[in-house]
Amino acid sequence: MLAPGRYSATCEASPNIALVKYWGQRIPEYNVPYNSSLSLTLDGLATRTRVAFDPDLPADTLELNGTPVDGGPREDVSRFLDLFRERIRRPWHAEVVSRNNFPTASGMASSASGFAALAGAAMGALGLHWGPRNLSRYARRGSGSAARSIYGGFVLWRAGHRWDGTDSYAVPFRGPEHWPEFRDIACLVDAAPVKSVRSQEAMQRSVATSPVFERRQNQLRRRLMRMRSAIDRRDAGSLFPLIMEECDSFREVCETTDPPLDYLTAASRAILDEVRSINRDEGRPVAAYTHDAGAHVHVFTTAPHAPALARRLGALPGVRETRILRPGPGVRWIRPAGSKDPTVKLWGR
Ligand code: DP6
Repeated sequence: MLAPGRYSATCEASPNIALVKYWGQRIPEYNVPYNSSLSLTLDGLATRTRVAFDPDLPADTLELNGTPVDGGPREDVSRFLDLFRERIRRPWHAEVVSRNNFPTASGMASSASGFAALAGAAMGALGLHWGPRNLSRYARRGSGSAARSIYGGFVLWRAGHRWDGTDSYAVPFRGPEHWPEFRDIACLVDAAPVKSVRSQEAMQRSVATSPVFERRQNQLRRRLMRMRSAIDRRDAGSLFPLIMEECDSFREVCETTDPPLDYLTAASRAILDEVRSINRDEGRPVAAYTHDAGAHVHVFTTAPHAPALARRLGALPGVRETRILRPGPGVRWIRPAGSKDPTVKLWGR
């Protein structure tokens, strides 16, 4: 048992973008999905979070990007930290200070990097000697997609079968070094509506009302298998059509949800059209679009095509910014300032 004292740690995590989407929960209370999903963790974007547990604190506090935050987000963080308090059997509150180096809730999956970094920092602060699978399990409880941000590169989140969801966690599929030429052009569009409904609620509405939800589930196993094999072979020509097929299937489920979930703006749709026409002009798939529950679009390609493609997409009306991103790392712990090697990486990634 931990003796009373101040226990703190800092952890950094990067967002991930799903190639096979998590959309639908078998056990909503624990964010346990119906289907396994596959993602790419992105370089250059990060959430850095410091957690300090302290028996003298009267309540949890949250500072996000330099501003104290109350209400919903703080309550989410508190509920999440309860899992750690239960684990150590101590009621200590914590001070949480978190900063993103990219716009929060901009469709760049800040909840994934946010809860992965928070889980890592809480684990580090309390000196819990967990492996990555258990950390992924915990991160999942904060935000489903956070389960995948524990690892770098291409990551597989196994849905699992158990009634209590304990076999639902992510595992590394291929590290960031596997396909160094892989690129994601993140296209940020203007006037992206701030997520009004949380994905967790939206996806349950899809499960209950979309007439194509079940058909999609039946297609996913085979699509995932084919994607894994294309990634293994670094075969963009096979992978890119599968990524777009999956994105279209996810969008169809959203659009047939009652009431419909429409995440895209005119600019997002223009990006999808542009990618289709680039591939037609080239006579082969050189790029693939995908998007999550938001208006920003991610366009995958390989390094030689990235600069020209980013310029072309960036010139479309309503596209505010494009950023070329590479496969990125998993969670890493940061030593306090002044120490010789500030970044401590665990688990080899
Ligand atoms: C469409 O796990 O991010 O991005 O916690 O409500 O934010 P919230 O849910 P989250 O849902 C992710 C849904 C998705 C697909 C995916 O990332 O697999």
